[in-house]
Amino acid sequence: MEKDKIAVIGLGYVGLPLARLFATKFNVVGFDINESRINELSKGIDSTLEVEDEVLKSVLKTSQHDENGLICSSNLDDIKDCNYYIVTVPTPIDKNNRPNLTPLYKSSKTVAKVLKKGDVVIYESTVYPGATEDECVPILKKVSGLKFNQDFFVGYSPERINPGDKLHTVDKILKVTSGSTPEIAKKVDALYASIITAGTHLAPTIKVAEAAKVIENSQRDINIAFVNELLKIFDLMCIDIYDVLKAAGTKWNFLDFKPGLVGGHCIGVDPYYLAQKAQEVGYHPEIILAGRRVNDSMPKYFASEIIKVMIQNDFRVKNTKILILGITFKENCPDVRNTKAVEVIKELESYGSKVTVYDPWANPKEVLNLYNLVTQKNLPINNIFDVIILMVKHKEFMNHNFNSMLNSGGFIYDLKGFFKNKEV
Ligand SMILES: NC(=O)c1ccc[n+]([C@@H]2O[C@H](COP(=O)([O-])OP(=O)(O)OC[C@H]3O[C@@H](n4cnc5c(N)ncnc54)[C@H](O)[C@@H]3O)[C@@H](O)[C@H]2O)c1
Repeated sequence: MEKDKIAVIGLGYVGLPLARLFATKFNVVGFDINESRINELSKGIDSTLEVEDEVLKSVLKTSQHDENGLICSSNLDDIKDCNYYIVTVPTPIDKNNRPNLTPLYKSSKTVAKVLKKGDVVIYESTVYPGATEDECVPILKKVSGLKFNQDFFVGYSPERINPGDKLHTVDKILKVTSGSTPEIAKKVDALYASIITAGTHLAPTIKVAEAAKVIENSQRDINIAFVNELLKIFDLMCIDIYDVLKAAGTKWNFLDFKPGLVGGHCIGVDPYYLAQKAQEVGYHPEIILAGRRVNDSMPKYFASEIIKVMIQNDFRVKNTKILILGITFKENCPDVRNTKAVEVIKELESYGSKVTVYDPWANPKEVLNLYNLVTQKNLPINNIFDVIILMVKHKEFMNHNFNSMLNSGGFIYDLKGFFKNKEV
């Protein structure tokens, strides 16, 4: 029997760790339309920092005759003899917060061009329930000319990794699986079970697996929105939210969420996928969209709070020198996509404040391209600031005493409660 050959379509935060893991046991081709990404990966470099260079290099094939291992390519010919196609492309939203399925459509078309009898296409991108069968399968059928569930099959297995998290890596997170027929579902489940040490959960249908993923992230978004609302209430009452959360957290079933900015590619985006589908089927989601509204209001809220403290401290706001610590969407990871820190910065700049951004993780070129903002990889230690804002909890900030970089009367605004109970 021919050994399985796997193509992973889209080698980003999700696709690369998965392709690397599969490559320890299978013949894998990583396919991406971004040629510069393919070039860096082929040299054993991962700029997302999800896979260590040595680990990546250890699976890269050195010869075509290697049985297992990974090659990275933008060439369709390199994936035509695969029998599993795993799609891990982005699922963003447009400017009106509506799902943008273009990468999913395009990658389905790519796969359909090389689809053969017996092949299985597994989607991992986060979507609303029904997207795989209603949106992707018709493209696969049309472009390939093959019959669904006779000639080719599909599966859905959502990814649950967390960028920058070195503890919960893909192999250590239980994987939900599903397939378009009971037999294919078992096959998909067995495929993942062969690499995921944490095990698998076979969902009864593809729609259940899709729904499970989108509610995981929607639940997080709503829980964060709740503590963000509490922050606003307790600020008005001059009560420290972190003291409240610490006290309430002594109860066994109190949920541990902290206030803050909700950006990035998942938590702030996925609830809109669920909301859109809910509206399509005739239900207006109250809680899901309320959570989104609260979380989307936080950049302006934090900026106005900072300006309030500046005025209370007799700073003129205009020309006030501000140092921002961190611009990525979350701590200890270089991902700057949809980071809400930028909205806080732009708001402060609109009042004429002079902002310097220090982030040891973000790629300054990427930040400049995406947001037209200059960032520094090194702490500007010889400069003095009126205000220092802790925006992201990067580990590098933990053991530094920023007091020496403050003007007299200056203050540190700690957006994450990071310095709480520390001498700053
Ligand atoms: N980032 C995460 O931690 C995370 C966690 C769980 C789920 N997800 C979901 O996984 C999916 C992928 O997210 P990501 O963070 O890896 O995205 P990403 O932007 O890091 O990577 C996607 C990759 O797909 C490539 N790509 C885009 N269109 C393509 C096409 N037509 N053909 C081939 N390659 C194409 C891009 O060049 C990019 O390298 C999304 O649906 C996301 O919601 C992400």
